[in-house]
Formats: sequence, structure tokens, C-alpha cells
Amino acid sequence: MGNGWLLGSGIALPQRRVANSWFEERIDTSDEWIRTRTGISERRFAEIGEKTSDYALAAARQAMQTAGLGRDDVGMVVVATSVPDMTFPSVANQVIESLGLTTAFGYDVGAACCGFVFAMSAADSQIRAGLARNALVIGADIYSSLLDMNDRSTCVLFGDGAGALAIGPSADGRGVLHTCLRSVGGHIDVLGCRGGGTAGRTSMTATGHEDGRIFMDGPAVFRLAVQGCCNAISAVLDMAGLKPIDVAHIVPHQANMRILAKIADHFDYPIEHIETNLKVYGNTAAASVPIALHEALKAGRIVPGDLVLLVAAGAGFNWGAILLRV
Ligand code: ACO
Repeated sequence: MGNGWLLGSGIALPQRRVANSWFEERIDTSDEWIRTRTGISERRFAEIGEKTSDYALAAARQAMQTAGLGRDDVGMVVVATSVPDMTFPSVANQVIESLGLTTAFGYDVGAACCGFVFAMSAADSQIRAGLARNALVIGADIYSSLLDMNDRSTCVLFGDGAGALAIGPSADGRGVLHTCLRSVGGHIDVLGCRGGGTAGRTSMTATGHEDGRIFMDGPAVFRLAVQGCCNAISAVLDMAGLKPIDVAHIVPHQANMRILAKIADHFDYPIEHIETNLKVYGNTAAASVPIALHEALKAGRIVPGDLVLLVAAGAGFNWGAILLRV
């Protein structure tokens, strides 16, 4: 079986645009602080009643259409998310049902902002192993549902959305070439979201979630994200025997423009070849890499044959990178 090759892509974003001025009216912050410290000008927030699966489905449908896949052609659906509609069944199951897929299996991957890279690697590996022919790999998150809108250190950073790739076996050496994934201990408390899990259990019966807001040590996350992304990029480049400049585009997780600038500096890599969209979408967590890749493909910045590096880091702490020939 061939490695996972990009057949199509799609995205879905909420209609509602929330500018930095929206926060200025509510908390002690400023458009200037948010723009200069993060690079974010606005983000999209989903409406109450909209679910992660709604966005995952819309992005997946578009990816299937651009790939020319029918409902009998998709053997696997992997959804990277930390905010599923419900504890179970998975978002992947809901996408499979809504798309009417007849021969698919699916599951969710919970690796926070690194989730898409982990999910893409899982799909690529299972395609290579012959478990599925074509796969939908989706990143979908509605982090606005986790934000304390009075906590200025986190609420300005995130946005909602979904991105999806359709991948299938490559016959000509294109597709996923090398992958590095890593999870390191010792950083569980720097970034996360308590609540909704067994850790807060106080009785044998189900109780409401009182602690479901993001907590974060921003400067520690900043350092870990830079270090993790740089480690992952170096690892896949070493595997491929390539230099950074051999890569046409880096498509990174979108956490902070200053993180991306540090990565560019570290590798002496032209920042204009690093895809960014956090100015308009903020940090869309597991959705950020496929949204950025889709937009670069659609705009013709990334074209067939290009060597592209996907890289992400996030809560856990996890990091990973995938070298891909489009
Ligand atoms: N508006 C105004 N002031 C703020 C705001 C805000 N929204 N948020 C924090 N501040 C203040 C702080 O209170 C602090 O004030 P003090 O000096 O009086 O105590 C000051 O700004 C500096 O705070 P720091 O946290 O040191 O600011 P820093 O320059 O590190 O920027 C930021 C904070 C943007 C969160 C940065 O640390 C960062 O981006 N870290 C990475 C976090 C991240 O990306 N998380 C997303 C999830 S993980 C991932 O995607 C990899």
C-alpha cells in the first residue's frame, strides 16, 4: 500500500467575526496589546447550539467533493478535537453517519493543538497498513466553549473552526514522507482544561462540570511550543536528509505570531514561506493546520509537487511534524 497522499481539502468557519475591540469593551485589554503580543486581530466564534460535529462535517464534505470521493470510497475518519459534542460516541461517528459512509471506521484523537498532526499520522499509517483506502482527517475545535471570557490571559487567543483533508494511497512517491511525534512528561499543569473528566469526580453519580475552563502558564507554553516545533522540524528534516530551505512551505499550528517568528529565526527560514492565518482566525487549536493548508492550496501558494512541512505543539505536552510532498 502507498503512503497517505493529499486528495482534497475543506474548511468550515463560524459566521460570527469577533474583533479585538469586542474584548476591549469587556475586559482590561487593548487591541494594541493583543495584536503586538500575539498577531491576532480577530477570530470566529461559533453560536450557542452549533456543535463541533457541524463544523467537522462541513469541512469533511468539502474535502470529499474536491477529492472526488463518494460515500463508498472513504474507509476511515479521524477527528482531532478536544471539544467533542459529547463524551461518546465520537465526532468521527457522527461524521460517518451524516455523510452516509458505508464502509468506514472512525475515532477521535485528543491531542489538543497537536491533534491534527497526530491524526494525520494515524491515518497515513493505517492507509499504509491497508486498513483503509481513503481517509478523511479532520481537525475541529470550538474552544470558545472552554474560555472564561473574563480571563484576559486566555480568552483573546482562541477561535473556532474546522479543517479537513482527504488522503489516499500514493503511487508515485508523493504524500507523507516522514513523521516525528513526541509527548513529554512534566508539563501537565502548564496548559489544560479541567472538568468533565474523572479527576474531578466527587460522587458515584454524574455531576455538572464546574471547572471546564482553560488554564495556562503563557510564557511556559510559549517556550515549550517554540522548543517542541523546532525539535520536530529538525527531526523530520534529519530523517529526510534535507535542510530547512529545501522545504517550500511550513504550515504550522497557529498559536502566536511571535512563536512563528522564533521558529523562522531558529532555522534562518524565510517567514513569508510560513503559512499564517492567526491574524483573522486566532488559535483554532486542532483545526489550525488543515485550515492553513487548505487556504494555501486554494490561493495557489502551495502547488502539486511542493515539499511541505506540517508542524504543531500543544498541551500535554505534545509536538509533531510531518513532511509531505503535495
Ligand atoms: N491584555 C493585556 N494585558 C495582558 C493580557 C491581555 N489580553 N494578557 C496578559 N496580559 C498582561 C499580563 O497580566 C502581564 O501583566 P503584568 O506584567 O502586569 O503581570 C503582561 O501582560 C505580560 O504577561 P505575559 O504572560 O508575560 O505576556 P507574554 O508576553 O508572555 O504574552 C501570551 C502572553 C500571548 C499568552 C504568550 O505567553 C503566549 O502566546 N504564550 C503561548 C500560549 C499559547 O499560544 N497558548 C495556546 C495554546 S497552546 C498552543 O497552541 C501551543
